[in-house]
Amino acid sequence: MTLYRNIMIILLITLGITGCNAEKPQENLSAATVSDQRIINADHEPQNWLAHGRTFDQQRYSPLDQINVKNIKDIGLDWHFDFDTHRGLEATPIVINGVMYVTGSWSRVYALNAVTGRLLWEYDPKVPGKWAVNACCDVVNRGVAVWQGKVYVGTLDGRLIALDAKTGKVIWDVMTIDKKLPYTITGAPLVARGKVFIGNGGAEFGVRGYVSAYDALTGKMVWRFFTVPGDPKKGFEAPILEKAAKTWHGEWWKLGGGGTVWDSMTYDPDLDQLYIGVGNGSPWNQAIRSPGGGDNLFLSSIVALKPDSGKYVWHYQTTPGEMWDYTATQQMISADLKINGKMRKVLMQAPKNGFFYILDRKTGALLSAKKYVKANWASHVDMATGRPVENPKARYYDNPWLAFPNPLGGHNWQSMSYNPNSHIVYIPAQEVPFLYAPDKNFKVVHPGVNLGADLAAASMPDDKTAKRQVMAMIKGHISAWDPVQQKELWRVQHPGPWNGGLLNTKGNLLFQGNAAGTFVAYDSRNGEKLWSFPAQTGIIAAPVTYSVGGEQYVSILAGWGGVFPLLAGEAALKSGKVSNNSRILTFKLGGRDKLPPWKYTEAYFPQPPAGTGNPKQIATGNGLFHHFCSSCHGDKAVSAGVLPDLRYSSALQDDRWFDITLGGILKDNGMVSFKTALNKKQLEAIRQYIILRAQILKRSKESNNK
Ligand code: HEC
Repeated sequence: MTLYRNIMIILLITLGITGCNAEKPQENLSAATVSDQRIINADHEPQNWLAHGRTFDQQRYSPLDQINVKNIKDIGLDWHFDFDTHRGLEATPIVINGVMYVTGSWSRVYALNAVTGRLLWEYDPKVPGKWAVNACCDVVNRGVAVWQGKVYVGTLDGRLIALDAKTGKVIWDVMTIDKKLPYTITGAPLVARGKVFIGNGGAEFGVRGYVSAYDALTGKMVWRFFTVPGDPKKGFEAPILEKAAKTWHGEWWKLGGGGTVWDSMTYDPDLDQLYIGVGNGSPWNQAIRSPGGGDNLFLSSIVALKPDSGKYVWHYQTTPGEMWDYTATQQMISADLKINGKMRKVLMQAPKNGFFYILDRKTGALLSAKKYVKANWASHVDMATGRPVENPKARYYDNPWLAFPNPLGGHNWQSMSYNPNSHIVYIPAQEVPFLYAPDKNFKVVHPGVNLGADLAAASMPDDKTAKRQVMAMIKGHISAWDPVQQKELWRVQHPGPWNGGLLNTKGNLLFQGNAAGTFVAYDSRNGEKLWSFPAQTGIIAAPVTYSVGGEQYVSILAGWGGVFPLLAGEAALKSGKVSNNSRILTFKLGGRDKLPPWKYTEAYFPQPPAGTGNPKQIATGNGLFHHFCSSCHGDKAVSAGVLPDLRYSSALQDDRWFDITLGGILKDNGMVSFKTALNKKQLEAIRQYIILRAQILKRSKESNNK
């Protein structure tokens, strides 16, 4: 040992003893030297959560078992960290040698001591508040990737940024989108083979999807793969797009086409392939997007690419010619499974459309597909052709169609968890109906959503009996799914949908936070509820587990948000009323931390002004509200705990209404001016519609008080 090293060791020991947390193991910011090999061998360091799904296969199973079915009743909150934001939290933390790297709302990045919750550094990419209008589904972010001492984040406004894992300082910062178009990034980047892979969202607004690979060291773009063809007259970026273009009609490129890769990607080190999950069509309505039909490749597909070149290998399309927002962006789990007596390398996905798919990873061949939730758009998947057998009425070209699943999907981005020993997939599933009706007056607007489907027609009915029936149909559950037999073994029923992602462990535990605001541990063998914690907010993110100094922790981001409470109005209250209290909650055996006391309180409801609107004006306001406002302020102006409920707004009283909606005085907080899309007369119609909604609320409050 050299003298120099001896001195260094003495110095480190001294620092350790004199440090304020001498009894606690210290975080090691220098250990973020994650490599492909380290992730491949992740089971050799089960104390760490190295990558988004822990391992490359995205199984979200932890080999830790210090916390198990026997002692789970003894776990308690050990520390909590309060975010200073009040929007949805969807991220999976990465934990390496006692340091947690995580994102909050607005693409902000935090490094914390995973034992104490102490903030080590914070990075705010300063996403302009006005960019929020391009986000369909809240200003959320699903996490970072860590590789060779760097932390990578995709920002809502389209940047990919590499930070120094030790300090949070920017190493490089590249723009991945055309800033003239309404693209957003909410997904976690994936790093493999020295490249950072990132997609984007925006298919509710009119964009063309793609995924790009950047050199992880320098930030230089290596390749880009477009998921839908562009204008054929301009030539194709890849030979496969020429073939894909034959499955489109009309002038789809003028509308974008969609196919955004906004969430899941899986790297397969066995076959050196990258799988990308491709999103819905833009606009939704195929009659507008591609008149005359066609499969519209690669919408709603899983596509396999070569990670070094972005070259196409194979694809499987779950929903040809999709028109229900049935994305195939959901998590793709790779595993080895015995199917029909033969061991196969498979890829599993439960996309929005309600079918659970098993593909052969080598060839993309469909091995099986069965409904995991109620789905009425197709009866089954024909195994000879690999295509769904559709109900022709589901294509709402002329007439509305009451569909299961709805645009939330039978399963969305909330993570599944797979147990490689029992071969059970745990699915955070949901069953919600939706009326798809054609928008006969479609025209592209900005700001505003461009769906080609009429959201006002899909509103909650006013009639009490009809409403009760709809509310009864809205459900959520955990499905314990056997992928080999393709059937449900058991389920845990929840009051409503939009519950959190899942984690299962060697301790036979299954963890989930839910929309009702509770963090729960179940026995992963039978779904028995073993332990729960009141989280003071709805939970949508997925838990992780790690250990430091021989002690196991379970940690989760708690913070209500995402598309459901923004858009769904009363339906989003199905699990009960919750609000957003954005926090990280971390538990261990014998944990003794306490949250400050808190109780759900109704917002103050001022007396709404007397309305002056006539029925025609109010009908106009209803239509406009559901085209321009309901995606954030909720169906029928009912807010579910994240953004302001406009029925309660004092701005209904006076000209502040126009200062906000035309003047843009709240743009930095995510509420832009609508002056490029709406005039004063139209905004007055929206105001009159909301005043009517507030009057109805007032009457119901009065009759409840009687
Ligand atoms: C992309 C999301 C989004 C859309 C779409 C949107 N808003 Fe907002 N709105 C917000 C946010 C976020 C706030 C809260 C801003 C703040 O905290 O200051 C807000 C606040 C408001 C307020 C102030 C409420 C109060 O606290 O009194 C009014 C009024 C309003 N919006 C009207 C509208 C109208 C009308 C439309 C449709 C033309 C619309 N908004 C569309 C996000 C949105």
